[in-house]
Amino acid sequence: MDVFSAIKKRRSIRKFKRKPVEKKTIERLLELTTQAPSGKNLQPWRMVVLTGKEKEKLQEILLASVGRLEQEGIRTGSCRNSIRAMKQAPVLIIFYNARPVYPGDLSSPNRYTWSVDIQSIGGAIQTMILAATGMGLGTLWICDIFYGEKDISSWLGIEHEMVGAVALGYADEEPEPRPRKSWQEVTEWP
Ligand SMILES: Cc1cc2nc3c(=O)[nH]c(=O)nc-3n(C[C@H](O)[C@H](O)[C@H](O)COP(=O)(O)O)c2cc1C
Repeated sequence: MDVFSAIKKRRSIRKFKRKPVEKKTIERLLELTTQAPSGKNLQPWRMVVLTGKEKEKLQEILLASVGRLEQEGIRTGSCRNSIRAMKQAPVLIIFYNARPVYPGDLSSPNRYTWSVDIQSIGGAIQTMILAATGMGLGTLWICDIFYGEKDISSWLGIEHEMVGAVALGYADEEPEPRPRKSWQEVTEWP
């Protein structure tokens, strides 16, 4: 599949077949992901691959965090739907930022380096998703995982900042394209 077809064909997939993804296929995907560009070639991404029992444990932790937040009256949006999709997908890959996090001061120069790192990791996630499409796999980019960041990271023993996750597997649905604003609507070209 060429890159144009992969861009057009990709959809967020929330129903996956039970079929597992071979280790070799996942490794190839991880290798392709690391081909993404990054600011100063710092490659700030770190990936954690979860399958089987480890993925189930993550789901439990996330579900428990969501339950706690909801009891405190905090809305968790579509997180339960994301967990449902996550349960079906045989693989979950979490992305972390291994570089320093800016200390909250927006005028700090660290803020810019932080933004560069997050953009780099976003590019890596998109690279993974397009490569997966080309390999016949379905994906879902999941930021609802943030609802369980603290507990998940402490279970994994990771102190880095969580950036997002990708659920991966063989699609069991073919969603229609979701609507997009036209490029003219979102572009200034004086
Ligand atoms: C940064 C980011 C975070 C997302 N987080 C979630 C999520 O937590 N749960 C979910 O179901 N979809 C998530 N999505 C998928 C979007 O809902 C989806 O991309 C959008 O609705 C457009 O649909 P499409 O991807 O099929 O074109 C996320 C997408 C992006 C780019």
